[in-house]
Amino acid sequence: MNNSPQNESRRRFIKNTGSAVVGGSLAIPMINTMPTFAKGNADTLKVGLIGCGGRGTGAANQAMKADPNVKLVAMADAFEDRLQSSMENLKKGHGDKVQVDPEHQFIGFDAFQKLIDSDVDVVLLATPPGFRPQHLTAAVEAKKHVFAEKPVAVDGPGIRQVMAAAKKAKENNTAVMSGFCWRYHEPKRAAFGKILDGAVGNIGTVYNTYNTGTLWSKERQPEWTEMEYQLRNWLYYKWLSGDHITEQAVHSLDMMSWALSDKQPMSAMGTGGRQVRTDDKYGHIYDHFAIVYDYGDGQKGIHMSRQQFNCANSYSVEVSGDQGHATVDCIKGVHEIKGNEKWRYRGESNDMYQTEHDELFASIRNGSPVNDGDFMAQSTLLAIMGRMAAYTGQIVTYDEALNSQEKLGPENYSWDMEYPVAAVPMPGIQDGVGR
Ligand SMILES: NC(=O)c1ccc[n+]([C@@H]2O[C@H](COP(=O)([O-])OP(=O)(O)OC[C@H]3O[C@@H](n4cnc5c(N)ncnc54)[C@H](O)[C@@H]3O)[C@@H](O)[C@H]2O)c1
Repeated sequence: MNNSPQNESRRRFIKNTGSAVVGGSLAIPMINTMPTFAKGNADTLKVGLIGCGGRGTGAANQAMKADPNVKLVAMADAFEDRLQSSMENLKKGHGDKVQVDPEHQFIGFDAFQKLIDSDVDVVLLATPPGFRPQHLTAAVEAKKHVFAEKPVAVDGPGIRQVMAAAKKAKENNTAVMSGFCWRYHEPKRAAFGKILDGAVGNIGTVYNTYNTGTLWSKERQPEWTEMEYQLRNWLYYKWLSGDHITEQAVHSLDMMSWALSDKQPMSAMGTGGRQVRTDDKYGHIYDHFAIVYDYGDGQKGIHMSRQQFNCANSYSVEVSGDQGHATVDCIKGVHEIKGNEKWRYRGESNDMYQTEHDELFASIRNGSPVNDGDFMAQSTLLAIMGRMAAYTGQIVTYDEALNSQEKLGPENYSWDMEYPVAAVPMPGIQDGVGR
């Protein structure tokens, strides 16, 4: 049920929904439902969307195109305006495939749980990633099939929670599809397939970048509490986004990891800072990172990411081996190998976002649900590990990152709580640990 009837004032809505206690301590009710195993094509798969922003709306669109018998029946968001604009968009494209009655429009911090408790088969998770471990756990506990946008956590405790949920989903035979979309892009599948088959020989380094301009921010409104402001500008708070290395550049780290068979690095050392994007409206995150991942025996993953205007952009992965060099360039669309073997991808490209959902729904229909749990947790952890190394100025081992007790964000959420912006980490001085 919607906590915010449409004729109520926005203030009232915030008060009504603000007291929900939904932190890590929320007891997840045990729901005695069976997962939707291979459903005949005549059976409707009912989809619920949690996080109705840009990507969530896109994912719902793709879910409705993935299978002829899918309906969107429930939506949840922290904010009513986001939910309504998403629903309007989706109705324009999909007509009566969107059947979200007012009783299935859930608003507030506890909206995710109400959606999961409603009669849905597949849940799409597309809130800021700080909430992902909690939402994923609740969805898996309720035996729902899940699409989980990347990244899947912002801290070590979150990663451990995600790993446990993904393991549980395997036991339940329910799907966990990740939003690491390049894994569903045919040219990248071909290129990384060649690399994994040894086309560049033994790999020495994987250099990868995500250098881009800055992103959006939303002007503070007088009626917003600090919590609402941070949530609406979630990119700039590490408890919500994990900083831009986790939120955005993780795509490049994911491809680095793919090239290296998703093996675990031993440690990371790095640097970073907040050099240009220093205004208060950008919270406390950095605007550049440079991290070296040590995989042992001289093998290195070298990562650079930047969100600064008027600088050279690059979004690529270069894999150097003892028999060749592979280039995967996401801006230029180049997938090529030079060396002992010469190869260039000349096949068709695909809409990777659509392919994710096509494969998710096909896997549900045929009774062998996809589970991306291992690589989605691992790639996200690489980003967290890099951030920890840059913030602290220390070498951070894989085990330290994975077993970190640093839990970001408040234990419980409410709209009117005090949650001052944490200090900008200063390596060697104030490492930004906690908050
Ligand atoms: N795979 C990709 O290429 C890709 C592209 C863009 C975004 N993303 C990822 O998708 C996720 C969402 O990004 P976006 O660009 O759609 O952001 P967005 O701000 O447009 O949408 C996020 C939505 O979540 C809602 N929300 C916030 N907290 C919530 C909560 N506790 N419960 C319910 N709803 C909540 C917000 O109100 C908003 O509507 C992020 O993890 C982002 O990294 C992935």
